[in-house]
Amino acid sequence: MKNNSLNKVSQNEVKKNEARRKRIAIFASGNGSNLQAILDYSLKNDINGDVVFVFSNNPDAYALIRAKNANVKNFCLDLKNFSSRQLYDMEILKIVKSENIDLICLAGYMLILSSDFINEYQYKILNIHPSLLPSFKGTHGIKDAFEYGVKVTGVTVHFVDNELDHGPIILQEPVKINDEDSLEQLEEKIHKVEHKIYPLAVKYFCKDELKIIGRKVIINERG
Ligand code: GRF
Repeated sequence: MKNNSLNKVSQNEVKKNEARRKRIAIFASGNGSNLQAILDYSLKNDINGDVVFVFSNNPDAYALIRAKNANVKNFCLDLKNFSSRQLYDMEILKIVKSENIDLICLAGYMLILSSDFINEYQYKILNIHPSLLPSFKGTHGIKDAFEYGVKVTGVTVHFVDNELDHGPIILQEPVKINDEDSLEQLEEKIHKVEHKIYPLAVKYFCKDELKIIGRKVIINERG
């Protein structure tokens, strides 16, 4: 009897956690078109989460204007005012924790998070990368693929771990490179796919539909 009621309590606890809407933070250093895509999608669809916070390391990031336009709390910290990356990241961590953030989405965030930060938010940080990982890691994924001459590249959304562009992969979608495509045309195609799959991955996370088994991420859509 005692065991049964204990079981009920913990089952209710699980249900409560699942039902709680996730508080999403987006980190962006530049244009913020992925931030916009997630914002728009979250307003039009039931993703069980809300973008409540935008952070940038770049005071001139257009992402900050997008956040202001959407009435989302936004914050910028200049690395120049900190004596080390460690201290900088710890300050961001403090803010993120005080905002009760459940999920951090890196969307063109150009700084590598310190491992202390990543460990605090293990499996709660997502990143989007403009290539089919593990090919073409790094800052110039689109250009590198284009110049390499591959016929197919694409987009990857993955969990962030302590290696660059490496954590377990949630979604990937290929993009064909045609002979006549310019780099600019390829960039456009890639961004279009990014704006489609990043919001989806965010939704899966917020609805607790992702299960990580080693390097594999299983998506368990409940509709
Ligand atoms: C995207 O191509 C993303 O894949 C990469 O940085 C770019 C950010 O673009 N990580 P935006 O700032 O979201 O427009």
